[in-house]
Amino acid sequence: MQLIIDSANLNDIRELVEYYPIDGVTTNPSIIVKEKKNFLLLLEEIREVIGCNRELFIQTLAVNAEEIVKEANYIRENILDKLVIKVPATKEGIKAIKALSESGVRTMATAIYTPLQGYLAAKAGATYVTPYVNRIENLDGNAVNVVKEIVEIIEKHHFNSKVLAASFKSVQQVHDVCLIGAHGVTVPPDILRLFLSHRATEANVKVFIEEWQTAYGEKSIIDANKIKI
Ligand code: G3P
Repeated sequence: MQLIIDSANLNDIRELVEYYPIDGVTTNPSIIVKEKKNFLLLLEEIREVIGCNRELFIQTLAVNAEEIVKEANYIRENILDKLVIKVPATKEGIKAIKALSESGVRTMATAIYTPLQGYLAAKAGATYVTPYVNRIENLDGNAVNVVKEIVEIIEKHHFNSKVLAASFKSVQQVHDVCLIGAHGVTVPPDILRLFLSHRATEANVKVFIEEWQTAYGEKSIIDANKIKI
């Protein structure tokens, strides 16, 4: 199951890639503009931080299929290595995904709200299908069920797509889609950091160290064989 960072902030990406088992970085126009930097320069910097083996997801902005394909080709000419072109799952977007995947380009159909949008995206050859969990919930939809049904459609009909769920505002939302079988999640840095945040774990570590030091002083595990008992 893939774990992706949903951010273009270099400091966050640098920290998270160092500490966590991260498979890639997703961006979109709203995420990019927050950084107030030159588009290509920022993407090159992200590539440098994540290395060439993690996937970098970059979204097109055009609304017409031919223009989307042109933007995708421009991105592919300028950003190297493992790249996924994100395209919103509109009618024109699906046409563009079909054309891009026919020429071997890896794509993500994004901004998905319903199982049938997911089906069409998978049928068009999208590498990833991306339901927007929090945004579905904000519209009073059952996001977990949408993710579950897209996973079922893909697996039952043997499509090659993976469901990479996005748009998370709580750890519980991520937990829920992990359980129902999403193939991956893309998570904002502040939510990702919360995965490991538990008072009991911190307290346990403190007690292990206190008890060890009460018995052996400041000696580390490595020096433990020098301790005379
Ligand atoms: O990749 C962006 C997608 O995750 C949307 O997130 O937080 O804007 O709903 P949000």
